[in-house]
Amino acid sequence: MEQFINSRENPEEYSIIPGSTGWRSPSNIAIIKYWGKHGNQLPRNPSLSFTLTSAYTETRIQYKPIADNISPAFSFRFEGVENPAFSSRIQKYLSHLEPYFPFLGKVDLAISSGNSFPHSSGIASSASAMSALAFCLCSMEAAFTGKEDSGPDFLRKASFIARLGSGSACRSVYPGIALWGRQDQVHGSSDLFALPMGHILHPVFGDFRDTILLVSSGQKKVSSSAGHSLMDNNPYATIRYQNAGKRLSRLIDVIEAGDLNEFGNIAEAEALELHALMMASSPPFILMLPDTLAIIHALHKFRADTGYPVYFTLDAGPNIHLLYPARLVSEVNRWLEAEIAPLIEGRIEDAIGKGPVKISSEFASH
Ligand code: DP6
Repeated sequence: MEQFINSRENPEEYSIIPGSTGWRSPSNIAIIKYWGKHGNQLPRNPSLSFTLTSAYTETRIQYKPIADNISPAFSFRFEGVENPAFSSRIQKYLSHLEPYFPFLGKVDLAISSGNSFPHSSGIASSASAMSALAFCLCSMEAAFTGKEDSGPDFLRKASFIARLGSGSACRSVYPGIALWGRQDQVHGSSDLFALPMGHILHPVFGDFRDTILLVSSGQKKVSSSAGHSLMDNNPYATIRYQNAGKRLSRLIDVIEAGDLNEFGNIAEAEALELHALMMASSPPFILMLPDTLAIIHALHKFRADTGYPVYFTLDAGPNIHLLYPARLVSEVNRWLEAEIAPLIEGRIEDAIGKGPVKISSEFASH
């Protein structure tokens, strides 16, 4: 953490000029799950995710200097309208970031944000939202210090800053796959920020699809933060954290080797373990719905009948992420239409992606 505090410029060296910035940042889907945290957004176990493409947040900030302010000054609009719930989360977030961005007390920010997917669709938006915002803030810092808003140091700080907003957001910073959390086998891995792992990706994973089956688009039954804190008293916590590390180690080998079958075994075991942990929490939560299980059984049958490498993972909710190589798009589509369509509210087609990009900073509305 010190590297980000120490590396921050002396506030006097900032030259705060009015300007604007914009970033589009994708969501990600964890194969090894982050579930349980401590301290200031530190994970209890390392996690690994695929960065997505279609599910993203776009955030734009117009900024101008103001006289010193006690707390960061900002306005926030989500999809063109004010949003008090999001605003208070941003307020809290920005006030925690002042040690890393000393300029925050000296600027006024007009923040505008929107998602590519419906907010109520049951898709976790904190990873894309917090990473997009983190990129904008890091770009502002680069503008004030005359640096480039690209390169390894910039991305590492963006990941570090994103993590403070939402743990999973720190993994959205990198294309392909990202690892967050200390893992002995991976040099430089850290609990403070994610690392890019695209170099281990065997070509069979390069065009992987993620079809998100919306079993229920209702509000989440348990927020991520509440879910993480349930791990503090979970009787299986210690064994879980050990399992996650071992599974991750095996998964890295499997991804490098292009072993689809073993990839699927790990992804599905991990998703079910996440849900088992929630069922063993106090109070317990059952976040799968009957149709979640019906789809999992149908998928196992589809796989047994066809031999196609199509696997599932779950987040902390009832929706299913189907993971498979792009060459199977038509076959999977036919099966979904024939057998799964009546069980779901809809689906979102996504795929492994290239990570965040800078976008025009012009506000669409305002
Ligand atoms: C089940 O990153 O949303 O999706 O750090 O409290 O914002 P906070 O939690 P969050 O948790 C994600 C949990 C998960 C698994 C994962 O993405 O690794």
